[in-house]
Amino acid sequence: EAVGENVTRFQQGDEVFGTRRGSFAEYARARADRLAPKPTNLSFEQAAAAPISGYAALQAIRDQGKVRSGQRVLIIGAGGGVGTFAVQLAKAYGAEVTGVCSTTKTELVRSIGADHVIDYTREDFADGGNRYDVILDIAGNRSLSHLRRALAPEGTLVIVGGEGGGRWLGGIDRQLRAHMLSPFVRQKLGTWISTERKEDLEELHELLEAGKVTPVVDRTFPLSEVPEAIRYLRKGHARGKVVITV
Ligand SMILES: NC(=O)c1ccc[n+]([C@@H]2O[C@H](COP(=O)([O-])OP(=O)(O)OC[C@H]3O[C@@H](n4cnc5c(N)ncnc54)[C@H](OP(=O)(O)O)[C@@H]3O)[C@@H](O)[C@H]2O)c1
Repeated sequence: EAVGENVTRFQQGDEVFGTRRGSFAEYARARADRLAPKPTNLSFEQAAAAPISGYAALQAIRDQGKVRSGQRVLIIGAGGGVGTFAVQLAKAYGAEVTGVCSTTKTELVRSIGADHVIDYTREDFADGGNRYDVILDIAGNRSLSHLRRALAPEGTLVIVGGEGGGRWLGGIDRQLRAHMLSPFVRQKLGTWISTERKEDLEELHELLEAGKVTPVVDRTFPLSEVPEAIRYLRKGHARGKVVITV
């Protein structure tokens, strides 16, 4: 272990978490501004689960969704990697949160703070019963019209993921249509691609350290089983995050 000669924030031996490309490895080198001190209340596995999904959820909720206290927020894909962070972050921002997931994850989604849970195998969130100020669409690839039916007249839709491929433009078809339609309707329809930011890693650090957000780790796989871990994740039904241990 070593620290770069111009790095003043960390010392050799500090416990850190963060991101870098190529981190399925025993040793990895990361930029100092992509790291923060590991929250003391988390294991290394929990801390490793936080940055990428945490960035996506934080930026979608705070920057694109502009979630404010008291707003009704719907999170589709609430039991997955990004969704489990999004539910907790929306609660931390004071929202009334409804999570959409399959039957086996309803208890999990409730346990991380969702006020209401919709089991998508039994109920349709767009059945007309409720409309939401902000919808985070993380999974399921619902059509734009379906999503808009559940959105308040001046609500905000943030498409984070869940693309299943459109007829002409593959995965970004739905996102492009959202951007094109948005200027002509009262609802705000957009997408979000997260970026790695030092300030956001620090905000995540604060939220994790304060116990306002706790990473949900489904399974860990040893480094030698990375392909199996990826296959498991690709099935699309992880309960929170999948972590590689070294
Ligand atoms: N925009 C960005 O910057 C960004 C960043 C990270 C990830 N993403 C994207 O976000 C998506 C999700 O990533 P992730 O890491 O959260 O994936 P993940 O861990 O595989 O979670 C996906 C979740 O979706 C749920 N799901 C599947 N079908 C559903 C449906 N019809 N309705 C509601 N939920 C459903 C699954 O749970 P059930 O068992 O309940 O179905 C699973 O828990 C991916 O498309 C990924 O590429 C985008």
